[in-house]
Amino acid sequence: MHGTSHQEDLGLFQTIEERHSVRKYEADYKMPEEDLTAILEAAALAPSSWNLQHWRFLVIEDAKKKEELLPIAYNQKQVVESCVTIAVLGDVEANKEAENVYGEAVEKGFMTEQIKDTLVSQINRAYEKDPAYPRELALTNASLAAMQLMLAAKAKGYDTCPMGGFNEEAFIKAFNIPDRFTPVMLITLGKAAIPAHRSSRKPLEELTIKNSF
Ligand SMILES: Cc1cc2nc3c(=O)[nH]c(=O)nc-3n(C[C@H](O)[C@H](O)[C@H](O)COP(=O)(O)O)c2cc1C
Repeated sequence: MHGTSHQEDLGLFQTIEERHSVRKYEADYKMPEEDLTAILEAAALAPSSWNLQHWRFLVIEDAKKKEELLPIAYNQKQVVESCVTIAVLGDVEANKEAENVYGEAVEKGFMTEQIKDTLVSQINRAYEKDPAYPRELALTNASLAAMQLMLAAKAKGYDTCPMGGFNEEAFIKAFNIPDRFTPVMLITLGKAAIPAHRSSRKPLEELTIKNSF
């Protein structure tokens, strides 16, 4: 089936309430490329530490690559039945982007050259100080883009499932992931064939601490 992108976007709160993890997709649904582009563009608007945009989106849409992914994702069928699986990767050397990101800001007149130089050296110092920090930042920031991707997909009438259940080492090997990037999660994206199973959430009182423990 060929999809069209005439779906009215949902409002934000409705989108959040209606997003659930779908594991059964219409396997023959062809997603219009413009919808995928719109969803990825929305994901890329996520905030990030120093605006370094630590995310990369590896779009796995080729049938053969999906089949290769299946055992790596412990045979979770959704990776072959959904339209695409997006591997969200985190950049563990995102400090290398600082020069570009801030160079552009200077060019556009958003900041001075001097502020740029101060920021770039601050970023490089932070990245060099603690060996765990680059990976932590990659995971935190790429996760924000992942969440935004799932909500954007829902607002456009699609469903998703975030997946941590895959063999990371095998994934890196099969998809030639460079050392610079760490896999954060896989996200299947497509048209639901069966709705998500129901899930509940803890009451807010249990989750909210006001001012201090
Ligand atoms: C980081 C992460 C990893 C997950 N890994 C898997 C997975 O490997 N397979 C799966 O079917 N669901 C996976 N889930 C989906 C969760 O089971 C689901 O989000 C949770 O049960 C809440 O349900 P809901 O998303 O439908 O609201 C994962 C979710 C997250 C956030």
